[in-house]
Amino acid sequence: MQEKINKHINDVSKLSISNKEEYTSFKNMYLSKNGILNDLFSQFKTLSNVEKKQIGKRLNELKKIAFDKIKTLDLSDKKTTKRDYLDLTMPAIYEGLGAEHPISKVQDRIIEIFNKVGFVISDGPEIEDDWHNFSALNMPEHHPARDMQDTFFISLNPDTLLRTHTSSVQIRYMEKNPPPIRIISPGRVYRKEDISARAHCIFHQIEGLYIDQDVNFADLKKMIMYFVHNLFGQDVKIRFRPSFFPFTEPSAEVDIYWGLNSETDYRITKGTGWLEIMGCGMVDPNVLENVNIDTKKFSGFAFGMGIERITMLLHQVDDLRLFYENDIRFLKQFKQMH
Ligand code: DAH
Repeated sequence: MQEKINKHINDVSKLSISNKEEYTSFKNMYLSKNGILNDLFSQFKTLSNVEKKQIGKRLNELKKIAFDKIKTLDLSDKKTTKRDYLDLTMPAIYEGLGAEHPISKVQDRIIEIFNKVGFVISDGPEIEDDWHNFSALNMPEHHPARDMQDTFFISLNPDTLLRTHTSSVQIRYMEKNPPPIRIISPGRVYRKEDISARAHCIFHQIEGLYIDQDVNFADLKKMIMYFVHNLFGQDVKIRFRPSFFPFTEPSAEVDIYWGLNSETDYRITKGTGWLEIMGCGMVDPNVLENVNIDTKKFSGFAFGMGIERITMLLHQVDDLRLFYENDIRFLKQFKQMH
């Protein structure tokens, strides 16, 4: 019997239990009613006192080893049922730094260019009223130009809306500050548009406004050329195209040459090779009168550009939706860029 017990002690010590099946079969074999332990203890009872003395210690040892074996086991599926201890001496797992969003980077670059020639930042709310987003900008109720910018209304009250452009900040600023004015207003704008490679319902604009004495269209053109050359370099291909905006007269749009080699180029530029980056013009006297600026004394120009479009051009991104997916693999590509 002594030998038998020694063999079991040896077996149990070596045994490894790593799943539920092994655990059950071990329990059945050793610890159940008809298992080895009970069997040995029954035999033990029949021994003489001298033999009991010799064998009892070893038998209790086997019992302890067998119970210890299952005591420390954790076969539950979730490792966290027992409290996991945090080892503060472990080296930290390096997750890597995030990357600044390309839209923010380009926005900062544009602001810097205008800061250098005296434009200061002015902010406005994203939730606007009709006056600042439309009426004061020479778009009275029922003006057809309102249809150019499909609007999200916030409540049933048509006076509360998400601004469709940053031009609303012009009005807010002019209401509170007399000329001369040189402001730049970056921000998010909203339009009820179908989402595609070229359009999104949320995007970013930068608005500029310059009001002073004797400002003319040549000043506007010079300012735009200064900006475009600084951002895209001296060799960029640019064109001014006559256009219409209710708040400027005359109005123009500025296009940058993207290229027309691939199918994507055709899709992005609607087959022209050119991509429009901003609208601009001389501020309409009606707008100045709406904010009580003396039109005999002052004139000015304004411009509004889309940051997504400009970022697409700068980095040859051919689908605007990439800017909103926040895929870290996409964002990281811009990490090193200024
Ligand atoms: N607000 C216009 C738009 O969102 C862009 C624009 C055009 C802004 C001409 C201006 C401007 O300041 O003068 O399409």
